[in-house]
Amino acid sequence: MNNIFDQLKKDHYVQKNMLKSLIENYNSIESVADYIALKNELTEHAKYEERIFYKPLISFDESQDKARHGIAEHQQIDKCIENIDKKIASQEDWRYYLKKLQDLVEHHIEEEEESLFQIAQNLFTDTKKEKLADNFYEQRS
Ligand SMILES: [Fe+2]
Ligand SMILES: [Fe+2]
Repeated sequence: MNNIFDQLKKDHYVQKNMLKSLIENYNSIESVADYIALKNELTEHAKYEERIFYKPLISFDESQDKARHGIAEHQQIDKCIENIDKKIASQEDWRYYLKKLQDLVEHHIEEEEESLFQIAQNLFTDTKKEKLADNFYEQRS
């Protein structure tokens, strides 16, 4: 049975690979479709991660600060995506912001997995961890 941590880590793995491959094979116009797929992946993940995983963490004193910090990082990622969209619309080189997006996403994933997940491990029961994984899977698909 999957728990919420495994479920979120699967998405993180996909996101890191999408970013890596986009940066390695960057070719302005041809990369736009891959970028749109990445953008959808990042925004859908953050949307359901906040609704299902961060929401209960806001209610515990032990995790509230880190959950708020994580949500603020989602906003930074959104801002960076907006900058890339603008560059693409004006047909400018968007590689700089793409690298910036990779740095933000990798930093964010590391903080979630190394810090927030560790705290959350002790706050949720095993049943709750599985229930959250089911909710995340059902709502995302
Ligand atoms: Fe995440
Ligand atoms: Fe996140």
